Amino acid sequence: MANGVNVKPAKGKLGILIPGLGAVSTTLIAGVFDILAGNGLPIGSVTQMGRIRLGKRTEKRNPLIKDFVPLADLKDIVFGAWDVHGENAYEVCKRSGVLEDKHLDPIREKLESIKPMDAVFDVNYCHNIEVKHAKSAATKWDLVQLVKEDIRKFKEENGCDRLLMLWCGSTECYTPCEDCHKTIEALEKAMKENDPRISPSMIYAYAAISSGVPYANGAPNLTVDTPALIELARREKVAIMGKDFKTGQTLMKTIVAPGLRARCLGLNGWFSTNILGNRDGEVLDDPGSFKTKEVSKLSVIEHILDGQTFPDLYGKYWHKVRIEYYPPRGDAKEGWDNIDIFGWLGYPMQIKINFLCRDSILAAPVALDIALSMDLAQRCGFYGIQEWLSFFFKSPEVREGLYPEHDLFVQKTKYKNTLRYIMGEELITHLGLDYYAEEDK
Ligand SMILES: NC(=O)c1ccc[n+]([C@@H]2O[C@H](COP(=O)([O-])OP(=O)(O)OC[C@H]3O[C@@H](n4cnc5c(N)ncnc54)[C@H](O)[C@@H]3O)[C@@H](O)[C@H]2O)c1
Repeated sequence: MANGVNVKPAKGKLGILIPGLGAVSTTLIAGVFDILAGNGLPIGSVTQMGRIRLGKRTEKRNPLIKDFVPLADLKDIVFGAWDVHGENAYEVCKRSGVLEDKHLDPIREKLESIKPMDAVFDVNYCHNIEVKHAKSAATKWDLVQLVKEDIRKFKEENGCDRLLMLWCGSTECYTPCEDCHKTIEALEKAMKENDPRISPSMIYAYAAISSGVPYANGAPNLTVDTPALIELARREKVAIMGKDFKTGQTLMKTIVAPGLRARCLGLNGWFSTNILGNRDGEVLDDPGSFKTKEVSKLSVIEHILDGQTFPDLYGKYWHKVRIEYYPPRGDAKEGWDNIDIFGWLGYPMQIKINFLCRDSILAAPVALDIALSMDLAQRCGFYGIQEWLSFFFKSPEVREGLYPEHDLFVQKTKYKNTLRYIMGEELITHLGLDYYAEEDK
């Protein structure tokens, strides 16, 4: 058995600081309060409900992940947030209509006590939003200092032992990685000069990382997958990971596409469309924000069904993704996938998927798992990109020169093997020949 990692204990309170007090984050917060009150189960959360096999199959050791690794306990979490609207978490829950009164009334006071701090906001990065509470300062560098002060105060006032930041804000307009994002010096200079290429999410991320606070990105914005912020995270020995929660249609894609590849079935085309009526849908209705989302969604199939490696199977296919804002549906998104595949001798077949999902109900447990795993990573002394958390992200970050692993099942193995590695358990290869060798003895 390996030695494992020297993990610092999860003692004291863990503050989860969230830019964006919207549908996803309030569903996460309310859900945690409800679960603690015995008013529901953390369904969909791998850290809370998932199990991990240890040792050989014959040993029958299969503990809950949360009993195996020292994760923060839900009762030790304190939530904080920034937003532009000024509504408390209860008001956001009522407006977004994700959870019913039976899940809101018993925890109303706790939700009302969560009021957002004034946001760092830039209308050039996010249209379709009414701004009521935003910070103002002479430069973006000064905004960083204001966010750092918020972080410091939150930690002190809430008696937190540890913090992490989880971006649940709206999707920012598409930002290509440019020179000002390439080194720490260039980024700092750009902030001091109010360079328009520095987005609000980068300001939060810089403030978090330079305060020693891990940062995870639930949206597809560039943010911490810029060389400058990766370098900063490595220098400050802080864990970072992104980007974009893997839920809904992309979750389905990363389940189905690896299956097609595993069986060498070919692909002629994959057309995906969604109707979505929540505020996220409204923001994504803007072409700038949609472009960011589209890039994140398209890359999934391109990596799994890689035409260069498999030209006869995936050398030439159409892949289209559409998101339509359709208010009557609210948070209850409907996704359609039409998949044109081909089999033996090239004969065509079709798969149709109609997923009637609930966006925030799928995202909240993923957000919780990311937060708890990032806190674990930081206590393990892991810093920089946390590739082992790819399992939770639509567009997982990787070190330069590596391709991202999108296959959900490879990601799951990577996640669980990392947990085994942390705790000094044997990694599981699924070879299994030893069971049969025993029969010959
Ligand atoms: N729901 C899902 O399944 C899912 C999946 C993947 C990614 N996401 C992403 O998660 C994010 C949150 O989704 P949601 O449904 O909660 O959206 P939402 O619109 O309900 O909430 C986003 C909130 O962010 C706030 N905001 C925008 N810019 C901000 C800033 N600079 N600082 C602070 N707050 C800011 C908005 O005012 C809004 O209240 C979106 O980017 C979405 O694309 C969601």
